[in-house]
Amino acid sequence: MKNIRNFSIIAHIDHGKSTLSDRLIQICGGLSEREMSNQVLDSMDLERERGITIKAQSVMINYKNKKNDIFNLNFIDTPGHVDFSYEVSRSLSACEGALLVVDSTQGVEAQTLANCYTALEMNLEIIPVLNKIDLPNANPEKVSKEIEDIIGISSYNAIKCSSKTGTGIQNLIESIIMYIPSPKGKIDAPLQALIIDSWFDNYLGVVSLIRIKNGILFEKDKIQVMSTGKNYFVDQIGIFTPKKLNKKKLQCGEVGWVICGIKSITAAPVGDTLTTAQNPAKKRLSGFKKIKPQIYAGLFPVTSDQYETFKDALGKLSLNDSSLFYEPENSNALGFGFRCGFLGLLHMEIIQARLEREYSIDLISTAPTVIYEIELNNGKIIYLDSPSNFPDANQIKTIREPIVECNILVPPQFLGPVIKLCVEKRGFQTNMIYHAHQVSLKYNIPMNEVVLNFFDELKSVSSGYASLEYDFKHFQSVKIAKIDILINSEKVDALTILAYYKNASYRAREIVNKMKELIPRHQFDIAIQATINNSIVARSTIKQLRKNVLSKCYGGDISRKKKLLQKQKDGKKRMKKIGNVNIPKTAFISILNIS
Ligand code: GTP
Repeated sequence: MKNIRNFSIIAHIDHGKSTLSDRLIQICGGLSEREMSNQVLDSMDLERERGITIKAQSVMINYKNKKNDIFNLNFIDTPGHVDFSYEVSRSLSACEGALLVVDSTQGVEAQTLANCYTALEMNLEIIPVLNKIDLPNANPEKVSKEIEDIIGISSYNAIKCSSKTGTGIQNLIESIIMYIPSPKGKIDAPLQALIIDSWFDNYLGVVSLIRIKNGILFEKDKIQVMSTGKNYFVDQIGIFTPKKLNKKKLQCGEVGWVICGIKSITAAPVGDTLTTAQNPAKKRLSGFKKIKPQIYAGLFPVTSDQYETFKDALGKLSLNDSSLFYEPENSNALGFGFRCGFLGLLHMEIIQARLEREYSIDLISTAPTVIYEIELNNGKIIYLDSPSNFPDANQIKTIREPIVECNILVPPQFLGPVIKLCVEKRGFQTNMIYHAHQVSLKYNIPMNEVVLNFFDELKSVSSGYASLEYDFKHFQSVKIAKIDILINSEKVDALTILAYYKNASYRAREIVNKMKELIPRHQFDIAIQATINNSIVARSTIKQLRKNVLSKCYGGDISRKKKLLQKQKDGKKRMKKIGNVNIPKTAFISILNIS
């Protein structure tokens, strides 16, 4: 055990974690040159396309030092985007140390801070890694000072390196061995293994990534999932090198995978403890804090025959991603679907894209919303995440919305526009500190304003330099108006949204205009109306059109006519019929972009 080092790599997005992981694998010979495809660890198609890491990955490599001692280095690559911070804390719980990667051309950013504090709370040894020193504008000295000033940790053991060229990586490995403690635990105690992650493999069933905290796990052992008391036989165990490698046993201090023929996706929950059936441990390990989704939206299959596939796919995805929440929802406009909870908009986008791509489900999503705390006149308090379920105004005593505390780091030259943006978003400043090259700002802002496109707007007013990290703070009373949309006098529940009262009439008008733009003309007039608390505040009409797609090809040949008719039919497939009006899929999400 004294030659094992378990560590995570944490950083702000794009500072080079994945590149560093690849370089470590290469130096330690985990893969041949030929096997090193562009970026090894970001294995999901989506990750490659977007160039970001979504799932944490674990890899064990061997390193021989100058004295010929062999060390097992076990590292977990983690995602850097604010929506995936949950993955970071899970990965950290399997480690004794963390490499804090900071881009030497950029410096410390909000997410670097947030992740570093999570690691400090878990008492991990931190090694600052000043990356990208090959770039001409790199300033590792300045960044090293920022780490001390802004994060408040010593950077005495910081390593300067370039993950791209490999400079300094050898020193980094020596430091990992020197500074990160070896795992503790008792090899002869009953087995306690923490499930860090689980995912579903179509051939093997559930695969779990585990960290053995005490004892030894053997292939063919009979194990017990401690939360349910259910027993399973271990089929296979092993490690990732990063190739999947089978082993006969995994012992105290090691991180590896286990397959035990579990077919039910809820049977191996993340954060649970595995022990052996013969000699069970007395206590479960303390698992993970249950993470709460921040935004909710309805997802509905375009065609109802995909409902079962959709349900099954959500089950499989949620095993892999415990921050994904879902429950059945029925909409008069969109039929049967699910109300889903996500950590943020990017998370929602990724889940939707995975459902569409990996499971070929065509989906319509409704506008996302946060959770509101509502105090009714009868004293009851309810929490609502669906605008269409909002009680009537005369039943409500107070509505409270979630407020988040935002930590923003920004270079001083962009301070003005950033403050202006925070004020526009109904922000309240609670702190402002000047550091050498950056200002750290603290604002309390309604979550509703933050989760939509605040992050993108912040990036745009600061030329990409400002960084953001946020946390739920409390509920605060607010005046909210419910906007309903009626199409030919029929209320479309999936288009109902909630808005801050001062912006409500403007938003209602904008939605009506947008619908007019997006809904194609039909063979009859279509009336679009918006109401606030049941009184009409905006209306518009889409004039009728007698459209004959064949009119252009008088006397033409029959196959061309067929083609045009087919095209018209295909166009209709991407629409949803409300009453007798076809509404395009994009209309449901378009209201998002009206702020
Ligand atoms: P996420 O997975 O999205 O959180 O990002 P990441 O931190 O894993 O960053 P990634 O490794 O994908 O690197 C981001 C970009 O920086 C890529 O274009 C890399 O090629 C580049 N990069 C990483 N390390 C270095 C380095 O040492 N020098 C130079 N010049 N570029 C680097």
